[in-house]
Amino acid sequence: MTETVTINDVGPRDGLQNDPGDVTPEDRAMLINRLVDAGLPAVEVASFVSPRAVPKMAGADRVVAGIDLTRADCSALVPNHKGYELAQEAGIRSVAVVLSATETMNLKNINMDLETTVRVCEEVVGRAVADGVHARAYVSVAVECPYEGLVSQQRVHSLAARMFDAGAAEVIVADTIGAANPAQVKSLFSRLVGEFGATRLSAHFHDTRALALANAWQALECGIRKFDSSIGGLGGCPFAPGAAGNLATEDLASMLEQAGFVTGIDMRRLLEVVELARKLVGHDLGGRSLAWQLGRKTEAA
Ligand code: COA
Ligand code: ZN
Repeated sequence: MTETVTINDVGPRDGLQNDPGDVTPEDRAMLINRLVDAGLPAVEVASFVSPRAVPKMAGADRVVAGIDLTRADCSALVPNHKGYELAQEAGIRSVAVVLSATETMNLKNINMDLETTVRVCEEVVGRAVADGVHARAYVSVAVECPYEGLVSQQRVHSLAARMFDAGAAEVIVADTIGAANPAQVKSLFSRLVGEFGATRLSAHFHDTRALALANAWQALECGIRKFDSSIGGLGGCPFAPGAAGNLATEDLASMLEQAGFVTGIDMRRLLEVVELARKLVGHDLGGRSLAWQLGRKTEAA
């Protein structure tokens, strides 16, 4: 039996929020449309955050105005009630709240302590559920925090439980700074899968230490079938020092395809989107498999 793995491309949000390139909201919408054309079933299209905190995400409403929300799960990150309200006004029907696992990371990222963040996330998730809006929750820095070091599994587990109790449909377990290794991933994900079930979890890796693909494979072995990744490996959090790019969508999709999983992604078209993203940001991009994949495409032509 062929198994499906869902890839959520977070390049237009996690990728572009910290990229030196200036990409207009209209070009961000074009990038999203091309990702959906390439078969991505889910894209994180924007964040409704303070433009002072994250100038690159300004114009989220214009991004949403330029995309067809019915063609894929087009979600947006919302850090608080105001973000949720702005996302609703823009027409977004799928949101992700962001809860970091440590005190300091929440303060640096969204200027709230951990307990306040949990409460605000619970409230926003509750509102979304009442409004019939799909609600997911990030648990960020789930393995290691750039400010507080190693994060206990117990902490991640209890934060995930609170998000589920509030009504979140899914918890995205995020290695925000790319510090996790496959042994840690195995230990954390087998525990979370055992407790909450694989279908309610997704995994989000960064490639800082070149371990994102190994970590994704390990999460896959634990039963995870939903992953975040970023076109061309764009990415990094402005508030998490040392965070490099996300796992590249073309690397993840290629690994999954080679291992016999179905992603629904048209690899030829995906490679064209890497090229588009490269042009939009004005610098080189691309996962580690890109050169090989481009060679394969030329041979096939
Ligand atoms: N979107 C846009 N503007 C927002 C907002 C949102 N979600 N939330 C608050 N604001 C505005 C307020 O209206 C206020 O504007 P004003 O000064 O013109 O009156 C200003 O921001 C300050 O509001 P306050 O509630 O005091 O926010 P803050 O300064 O404590 O910042 C956040 C809190 C959450 C808004 C800010 O830290 C943020 O946007 N962080 C996002 C971090 C991020 O995206 N990280 C990467 C992804 S994990
Ligand atoms: Zn990330």
